[in-house]
Amino acid sequence: MSQILNDVRKYEEEMERKTAGEPRPAFHLSARVGWMNDPNGFSYFKGEYHLFYQYHPFSPYWGPMHWGHAVSKDLLHWKYLPVALAPDMNYDRDGCFSGNAVVLPDGRHMLMYTGVSKETQPDGRQREVQTQCLAIGDGVDYEKYPGNPVLDKSHLPANGSRFDFRDPKVWRKQDGSYRCVVGNCTAERDGQILLYSSSDGFQWKYEKVLAANQGRFGLMWECPDFFSVDGKQVLLISPQDMMPQGFEYHNGNGTVCLIGTFDEETDDFAEENNQAVDYGIDFYAPQTVLAPDGRRILIGWMQNWDACNYHAPERPWFGQMSLPRELSIKDGRLIQKPIRELETMREGEIRYENVVFTDIMRLEGVKGRKIDMELSVRPGDEDHIYRKFAVRFAQDDVYQTSVSFRPYESIIKIDRKRSGSRRAMIHQRRCLVKSREGRIKIRIILDYFSAEVFVNDGDYVLSATIYTDPAVDGISFFADGQVAMDVVKYDLLEG
Ligand code: FRU
Repeated sequence: MSQILNDVRKYEEEMERKTAGEPRPAFHLSARVGWMNDPNGFSYFKGEYHLFYQYHPFSPYWGPMHWGHAVSKDLLHWKYLPVALAPDMNYDRDGCFSGNAVVLPDGRHMLMYTGVSKETQPDGRQREVQTQCLAIGDGVDYEKYPGNPVLDKSHLPANGSRFDFRDPKVWRKQDGSYRCVVGNCTAERDGQILLYSSSDGFQWKYEKVLAANQGRFGLMWECPDFFSVDGKQVLLISPQDMMPQGFEYHNGNGTVCLIGTFDEETDDFAEENNQAVDYGIDFYAPQTVLAPDGRRILIGWMQNWDACNYHAPERPWFGQMSLPRELSIKDGRLIQKPIRELETMREGEIRYENVVFTDIMRLEGVKGRKIDMELSVRPGDEDHIYRKFAVRFAQDDVYQTSVSFRPYESIIKIDRKRSGSRRAMIHQRRCLVKSREGRIKIRIILDYFSAEVFVNDGDYVLSATIYTDPAVDGISFFADGQVAMDVVKYDLLEG
């Protein structure tokens, strides 16, 4: 192990001890110390889920990237392992960027990541050159492959940028050969996903452009994932610098899901539909894992690049992952549900049926900041559909975050402007949903620093981080018009 990695391991252990007791999310993975962004190397290895992450342990802000590491048996209770990768080689001296993992047939765990090294250009500018590299290990310690980098500028198509060439997703095919997809863009910064093949996982060959943006979704495409679910093929991409398209995509960086079919013989991906993956404020760069029971599970970075630098600098950690979501496809759309393991954390059921109300209302026992709550909302009077329904949480006299629904517009909105933020950053987002006559199901999962909203059994998801004092735990409801509602609420146990 390099001296650099060894020193980082000592540092994170010491800092973890010093900052123990600091408030944190209870069941969402957060940075062990310092800064976290993208999930990396999401895989199942030796009976556990491994999740690595983009990591800058030395401050709660982005910096030279390491790979943090955690393991879990249920994707909800995480145990930190020592930092797995540090920028300690010439080809990755300016960062070990995002990537993925695969299990080799001999039982070793192989990480594929992007090595970044700055290079002075003929015009004197410094630019980050990006290549793909390997590290092989036993689930705790990883050795960088002596043949690194395994993919560099010699593996790019004509017009492919070597400065934006990152985030490999690798998988092993049924026939034992390997494929990987890598994010890239043209010299004009138009995103594309490149496909590579390998017979042994070490020697790689460029195959083709798997998907090209052609100006549709933002500029550079980051963090691809490519997998099948329910007989369809899904390509996830996280485009930078998007412009909004109706209510579907929003300004900035976001995650797009391309759904289609894939021909394994010709490697042709035929797109059929596209949609946003999350309609809230904080979600980016997701990765999936295939669980041993066949479920395809997705986890994303619950943050937003345009809002992630406004946090309190004194907090020793920044950045957390979303709740893991089970994926399926229904009527050509991606459906996302909270992983079912969450149900084992439920306790203290509170249930109300057919509560009818026309104004602000509170319900005995309905409060909390670590909860799983499902609301089934419908008109109280079928002849007069209500104008607006809202649920407000993390609420006291000063603070509240809300989810509201306007049936005439069929728009659901998350609003965190009164969650304690003092910055003029984005605090609201709207999503156009399919709903029928004012009927809607809203499942809200709160952890101390986030709200995740699943609409109509996973048709739409809206995620947002909130930094309201965890002691602020009020919940109330509001109706403009007459609403009838069923409520089931559980506290989520940490134990
Ligand atoms: C996406 C991203 C990746 C890159 C990493 C760097 O959020 O920009 O493309 O590998 O973050 O930390």
